Order: sequence, then C-alpha cells, then structure tokens
Amino acid sequence: MTTTSKVAVIGLGNIGKTIAQNFIKGNRPVIIASRKLEDAKVLAQELGTLATATETDNAIKNADIIVLSVWFNTIQELFEQYGTELQGEIIIDPSNPIAPDENGGFKKIIGEKESAGQLNASKLPKGAKLVKAFGTLGAASLANATNQTPAKSVLFYATDDTTIDSTVEQLIQDNGFEAVKVGDLDQSIRIEVFGDLHEFGALGKVVTRTEAITKL
Ligand SMILES: NC(=O)c1ccc[n+]([C@@H]2O[C@H](COP(=O)([O-])OP(=O)(O)OC[C@H]3O[C@@H](n4cnc5c(N)ncnc54)[C@H](OP(=O)(O)O)[C@@H]3O)[C@@H](O)[C@H]2O)c1
Repeated sequence: MTTTSKVAVIGLGNIGKTIAQNFIKGNRPVIIASRKLEDAKVLAQELGTLATATETDNAIKNADIIVLSVWFNTIQELFEQYGTELQGEIIIDPSNPIAPDENGGFKKIIGEKESAGQLNASKLPKGAKLVKAFGTLGAASLANATNQTPAKSVLFYATDDTTIDSTVEQLIQDNGFEAVKVGDLDQSIRIEVFGDLHEFGALGKVVTRTEAITKL
C-alpha cells in the first residue's frame, strides 16, 4: 500500500457523504457506492471529477482502502456478501454499536465491555486489515472541523497492523485531520461512542493533537 492507494467509500449517509466531501477538499480521488447506484451518481455529480460512482462490488474491487460507512450490523453483512473482494484490503470501520433508546437518546447494542472494532475484527475476510477510524466525531464536526487552523483537529484510530499506520495517517490527513493512534484494536472501545476519546463520550469535544496526547 502507498499514500496513493485508491479509496472507496461505501454507504453515503451522514458520515459517508462527509468523508467523501472531505477527501475531495483534500484533493484525494474517491470511489463512492451505496445501496442505490443512483444515489452515488448524484453525489459524484456534486463532488466533481475526483469522485467516481459505481456499484459496491466494483468499488471494492477497484480500491485498496474501503471505508464502510454503514451501520454496525451492516458491516458484517458486507463482510459476508463481499468476502472474496475484501480479501487483503484495508477496511476502515467508523461504526458505533448503538441504536435509539426509549428516551430519545442512544443505547449500546453490544456488551458493555465489547467494542464494534473487536467484534468486526473477529469476522474479518481473509487477509483483510481492520482499522477503527473516522467514527470519533459526529458528522457535523467531521464536516465543520476539517482543515482547521492554526492547528488541525484530531481523528483517533486503532489497528493491530503497524505496517499500515502511515497509509492510514495519510488517509486521515487527506480528510483534513491530524491522525492520532490510540493503539491496537483492543483499544477500539475508547474511540467508539461513550468511550473516553469520543466526541459523544468523556472527551466531549473536538481536540487538537496537543490536547489529544494528554488524554491518551
Ligand atoms: N452520523 C454520525 O454522526 C456518526 C458519527 C460517527 C460514526 N457514525 C457511524 O457511521 C455509520 C453510518 O452512520 P450514518 O449516520 O452515516 O448513517 P446513515 O445516514 O443512515 O447512512 C448509512 C448509509 O449506508 C447505506 N447502506 C445501508 N446498507 C448498505 C449496503 N448493504 N450497501 C451499501 N450501502 C448501504 C445507506 O443507504 P440507504 O440510504 O439506501 O439506506 C445509507 O446511505 C454508523 O455505523 C454510525 O455508527 C455515525
């Protein structure tokens, strides 16, 4: 993998659309796909020539890094459906394992001490490398805090594979953020909703690297 690895964003809702928009602002080409090809085509039209809309299977085949910006339960469905195409790829998992609760808020849908990152890693297609990233900020902050000055805002990430750290960090930079690694995937819970390094957890805000380092 190199810093010019091809990126695909699958799922073009609040988070996927924002991630794709940020890549375009960062001058990084992006392949986009969703359940309906038409949705991807409409977004590609908005984003301009650096964006290419295609079907999900094609997007996965044509990219080296796949951002699965879909709900937690859908991630493992996509692992099953596209298990062959995903082999050996870098998979970015921004998912938070939550669902609406009866009080108008959100509740965790997996065990208190479990993380989406570790559960998804246990179902990973052969040779694929999972990275927990792009899920530490809400969609509004992801859109508003990109390319912040004078100091960039942070996106935390976790992965077990140190050989892809520089590729992941470049990806995060091209999205307009500073990458800060929290550790292996066993640290994912810290960067998922309710975690101590999440905007909707103990951290409670967008931070710069200087602040982020004090919290690690
Ligand atoms: N929203 C946030 O602030 C935020 C922040 C951090 C992390 N996240 C995480 O990011 C993920 C996405 O959240 P979101 O808010 O962006 O959700 P969303 O707005 O509901 O978007 C989900 C997208 O996934 C698409 N999709 C569903 N099944 C698919 C499939 N089988 N193949 C391809 N695309 C599929 C949906 O397409 P349709 O429109 O056709 O259903 C929709 O465009 C979740 O795991 C969430 O926890 C969200």
